[in-house]
Amino acid sequence: MVAIYPGSFNPFHKGHKDVLEKALQVFEYVIVAQGINPDKKIEFDITKVHDMDIENEDRISCIKYSGLLKDCISIWNPDVIIKGLRNAQDLEYETTMQYWNEDLGITIPTFYVITDRNLRHISSSAIRSLEKINEQQKTEA
Ligand code: PNS
Repeated sequence: MVAIYPGSFNPFHKGHKDVLEKALQVFEYVIVAQGINPDKKIEFDITKVHDMDIENEDRISCIKYSGLLKDCISIWNPDVIIKGLRNAQDLEYETTMQYWNEDLGITIPTFYVITDRNLRHISSSAIRSLEKINEQQKTEA
């Protein structure tokens, strides 16, 4: 079975890697699909995931999509969607997204993977904030 793992991945971090490796234990192939939102500047090149020492890296593809996830799914035809959950807020957000996706016509099921307990605090937004502060400190030095 083929899974699609959609997200902004801006950047793709250890928590995402954990979810991806867990998905690869169950599914034969995982498509890591970076959704490009025209209102947000995506700085992370998703093809860099191939350099991240992923277990079973030969069974992943990294792609970008813009527009609806539904349209990306009709092109790639995966069997399931994978999403990671760190906490109750993620569950709330992802449940709403799943209902929207169903209303938009996605019929394949979504499987949720609980992130490793040691990685629950990691988020792309925290990483971006730290990088920004580091950059500021470098220019001030
Ligand atoms: O990293 P995220 O924020 O969970 O990624 C969200 C993403 C990119 C997977 C999601 O926003 C998405 O698929 N956007 C494409 C537009 C879409 O299909 N929206 C439908 C629900 S409103």
